[in-house]
Amino acid sequence: MKWVYIKDLKDHIGQDVAIKGWVYNFRSSKNIKFVIVRDGTGLVQSVIAKGETPDEFFDKAEELTQETSIEIQGTIKSFERAIGGVELGVKSFKIIGKSVDYPITPKEHGTPFLMENRHLWLRSKKQHAIMRVRARTIKAMRDYLDNNGFLGLESPILSANSCEGTSTLFACDYFGEKAYLSQSGQLYAEASAMAHGKVYTFGPTFRAEKSKTRRHLTEFWMLEPEMAYYDLEMNMDLIENFVSYVVQTVLKDCKDELVILERDTSSLQKVIAPFPRISYSDAADILEKECPDFVRGGDFGAAHETVVSQRYDKPVFVYDFPKVIKGFYFKESKDPQFVRGCDLLAPEGFGEIVGGGQREDSYEKLVEGINHHGLNLEDYKWYLDLRKYGTVPHAGFGIGVERTVGWICGVHHIRETIPFPRTINNLRP
Ligand code: 4AD
Ligand code: MG
Repeated sequence: MKWVYIKDLKDHIGQDVAIKGWVYNFRSSKNIKFVIVRDGTGLVQSVIAKGETPDEFFDKAEELTQETSIEIQGTIKSFERAIGGVELGVKSFKIIGKSVDYPITPKEHGTPFLMENRHLWLRSKKQHAIMRVRARTIKAMRDYLDNNGFLGLESPILSANSCEGTSTLFACDYFGEKAYLSQSGQLYAEASAMAHGKVYTFGPTFRAEKSKTRRHLTEFWMLEPEMAYYDLEMNMDLIENFVSYVVQTVLKDCKDELVILERDTSSLQKVIAPFPRISYSDAADILEKECPDFVRGGDFGAAHETVVSQRYDKPVFVYDFPKVIKGFYFKESKDPQFVRGCDLLAPEGFGEIVGGGQREDSYEKLVEGINHHGLNLEDYKWYLDLRKYGTVPHAGFGIGVERTVGWICGVHHIRETIPFPRTINNLRP
């Protein structure tokens, strides 16, 4: 019999087909039994009725405990009120693998328990929906860049350099030498941009974040475009068009998932370029009035980001940051106390999703920056070559996949936005 995925059953009304999946739910009464089956593409109600399904299967149905894997043969009927608009009249079925005492039951569980069972939790309806949104978000990000003249080129994961400060490096032994897991592909993307013009790198990035927050993972995925001959303003123009495309595409293509997640999408619908832009200094004026704990010149905490972003109904850029809080590679602003960085803050308290800026293109200034940050000049020799051989103004940014997915899904804890989250407390599963 023809194997059909559940999402395609509506095209097979009146036909006999086979489905292969797992028992999601089972209800039984004297003359009729209902098995809801999931196969990763959807859910379907399968009906085992006395007199219609052979007796041997009617009795065997009692073995269909939660998450038992099962292959069912039956007839597809149109049934408006059922999930997916169809129902499967069961003729026969075969149990593929039993599932006894499945730990995640329809009752509420605490998050620590669910995290320990992440390998099973992924099968749950909401987690399933979040992963679909994640995959669509990544595809939309890549599509936008691929269709706008960018070349996707990977950066290495193992490196001798740090990009985002030495306090969050994961070190490992590299044949007697120290290597670090990449915190960002940026430095390599800059080299690739000098060869190809507009590039992006996409991959896992690592930060030994010792603090426990809802926004930090130790392993997260970042997409990092880098463009030769771009300045800060061109960078922000690109970011707002890119983010608008990603959000609007996911809204269009993941309607069902966002309904499952009970996401109120009215705020996401407003995510259309242009976005407001305010300087760090103007943001600091606001924060000095509204947040007693804010110190001008310092970095924003999560609460500060929320106060700034609440004033707008779209994502907002903050640009021109104090030099002392930013990395060694940023280009100086007109006022040399500041650098040409830009962060994009998402609305609804989701905070920074993009960090980027214009890069220092002067050899001398960059050497100064590397020394000032106490980094080893020798490790950055190759990076400095980019300023020695045909340096150009250039800019780029990094967007965190998990922060973006959390925002789109309306999920406030980052651990639910990646299949197997790595945090200070999670190395298993
Ligand atoms: O602001 P960040 O640190 O910028 C960079 O790494 C630059 N080198 C990027 C570039 O210009 N090419 O990180 C960029 C983004 C953040 O805005 C956030 O979305 C995400 O990466 N991010 C994290 N996501 C989850 N867990 C963490 N620990 C993260 N750190 C950064
Ligand atoms: Mg940042």
